[in-house]
Amino acid sequence: MNQYSRQDYERVATFIMQHTRYRPKVAFILGSGLSGLADAVENPDILPYGDIPEFPRSSVEGHAGRLVLGELEGREVWVMQGRVHFYEGLSLQQITFPIRVMRAFGVDALILTNAAGGLNPSFRPGDVMLIEDQINLVGLIGHNPLMGPNDPELGPRFPDMSSLYDRKLRLLAIDVAERRGIVLQRGVYVGLAGPAYETPAEVRFLRAIGADATGMSTTNEALVARHCGMRVFGLSGITNAAIDQIDSPRQTTHEEVLEAGAIIIPKMTAILRGMLARWDEAVSA
Ligand code: HPA
Repeated sequence: MNQYSRQDYERVATFIMQHTRYRPKVAFILGSGLSGLADAVENPDILPYGDIPEFPRSSVEGHAGRLVLGELEGREVWVMQGRVHFYEGLSLQQITFPIRVMRAFGVDALILTNAAGGLNPSFRPGDVMLIEDQINLVGLIGHNPLMGPNDPELGPRFPDMSSLYDRKLRLLAIDVAERRGIVLQRGVYVGLAGPAYETPAEVRFLRAIGADATGMSTTNEALVARHCGMRVFGLSGITNAAIDQIDSPRQTTHEEVLEAGAIIIPKMTAILRGMLARWDEAVSA
């Protein structure tokens, strides 16, 4: 089940060190339609995932599939432009492989972004939601990326998840958004396997269990990052209102999801840049 060892993560981290002059402490994973943020990275060293040993490759439109290392707001960053999802047919260990590599590299904070369907009736397409907590529905039915042998050098067998999304980074995001006049919704992200969008009955179920936004990524990456002691932060771009009644004239399409990304990018970029500019405030004390 767990086909990688600590030596594999360290070997790939060393490979990446040999191909970049940067040693970032902060990493980003950019979701569907949101990969434009990587274009803002200054003086980048770019490694296509296909050139990095063992790195999973994305097959989805809207996911560029390259690692961009460089500077943003004067801070070194590791940016994964595009991600791989469980529904693409890889194991949870494969899709989360880069997380432990970045940890072995020296990264200590992971910023996750995704496109998500809005479950909370007060959310509108184009909104940005701060992820306060998550429901890993795929994990609850028995597919957790931390299953299999546990290497205690990486993290504990039974990791606490009572504060998965870092409080200081959440407070920083709220302050940055407020000062910039950006409405920042807050809520619970539920991670499903996909690739089918939810039925209306599933949408009502997800709302009933306390979720505000639904998507097909993020939860596994967050678990693995927290397990190995990283700070975790997440923003969802609400690309569509999830359809909660049958026979609706509306449908959910990938095109709609990618299009809404264009409205969301400037807001997310402003929040994330603002956070990087004040990073030391959040991570010290
Ligand atoms: N459901 C699941 N994943 C999504 C959605 C959705 O409605 N929108 C964007 N990603």
